Amino acid sequence: MDLFEKLVSNMGPLALHADEAHGYFTFPKLEGEIAPRMKFRGKELLTWSLNNYLGLANHPEVRKADAQAAADYGLAYPMGARMMSGNSDYHEQLENELSAFVEKEDTMLLNYGYQGVLSVIDALVDRRDVIVYDAESHACIIDGVRLHQGKRFVFAHNDMENLEKQLVRATRMAEQTGGAILVITEGVFGMSGNQGDLKGIVKLREKFQFRLFVDDAHGFGTLGKKGAGTGEEQGVQDEIDLYFSTFAKSMASIGAFVSGDKKVIQYLRYNTRSQIFAKSVPMPLVIGALKRLELLRENPSLKENLWKVVNALQNGLKANGFNIGTTMSCVTPVILNGTVEEALHLIHDLRENYGIFCSIVVYPVVPKGIIMLRLIPTAAHSLEDVEETIKAFSAVKDNLANGKYQVSEIMDLSSNSN
Ligand SMILES: Cc1ncc(COP(=O)(O)O)c(C=O)c1O
Repeated sequence: MDLFEKLVSNMGPLALHADEAHGYFTFPKLEGEIAPRMKFRGKELLTWSLNNYLGLANHPEVRKADAQAAADYGLAYPMGARMMSGNSDYHEQLENELSAFVEKEDTMLLNYGYQGVLSVIDALVDRRDVIVYDAESHACIIDGVRLHQGKRFVFAHNDMENLEKQLVRATRMAEQTGGAILVITEGVFGMSGNQGDLKGIVKLREKFQFRLFVDDAHGFGTLGKKGAGTGEEQGVQDEIDLYFSTFAKSMASIGAFVSGDKKVIQYLRYNTRSQIFAKSVPMPLVIGALKRLELLRENPSLKENLWKVVNALQNGLKANGFNIGTTMSCVTPVILNGTVEEALHLIHDLRENYGIFCSIVVYPVVPKGIIMLRLIPTAAHSLEDVEETIKAFSAVKDNLANGKYQVSEIMDLSSNSN
């Protein structure tokens, strides 16, 4: 059998409707400045799908710092991996400022969040160790766990009773192998918006010995009094052994970091393969991150504006009879019932007739019969944007209930069909 023939005969679950959907539902092109209103196929749409939580993507000071750093250093500097020739004072300054902000002794920069998490997990455990992780973990955690050559146990999402059961099994296993236990969860789960029950997890330290790694991609900058994330929000930042976040969301950039005790971070510097064997973060991203962190730290109004929009959106949706699940964060899912075909027609209607662009999640990511629209409010949105969106959502919800989207075939909206 030819490998490529086999691959293209089954393109995988996400490509199920690619022929009709490519360029519209998948791989859409949003054009113009990153803002609540962007152009899609020539039309201005109100967008709710960018993780630009604090509105920093287009902040004039950020744009200026990015451009100046690119002019001063170009994208190449520093060349090589951090360990070999890719280090700089700015990289270390950013690490120090992040450590102070998230209240950890030390920090290691990572060139991407996904790769970073995968590789940090790989560095932390050997075949004797046992990983215990939340069932709804992000792909980067799942893939990090896949690299692990020892035992792993998954606990039902945020279910502390089940976690306790898994920890009993993990403890028994670790005693047999002479290894240790790593528990992994998220600060905020990006689909449901649930906060990981960090408080519940750290309470289990009374009974079990383990180290805790938290991926706080969506919590950093959005939760906690000063924006230091879900640990700060729940009052357990001290008890998170390794705190991770990405620059891809609140910081509106690329890159990531992991923070913890000095000795452990130093261990990670010398053992995290995605950093040792890859070029370090380019200078414009480092200097740009320093500027973003400064704004995040010194402008609490960014987070206040964000939450004004989040509260208006979530309360407005609930008041209008929408099911927004169990979110405890900015991530705002809207859960409807319908088929994949109905979901696609609904989204088409929202974009073409109501001027709203949001992400859609359907089977196989959510169970069959569920349509999840996912809204990401930002500090840059206005209360008028919220009102307009709730009106539009109410209209398409009625249309869905009245069977307007019950069309058996999926329309061909691919870029090729234009
Ligand atoms: C929970 C979580 N972890 C990790 C990542 C990956 O981060 P990055 O985009 O920096 O690779 C994401 C998505 O960006 C995420 O949502």
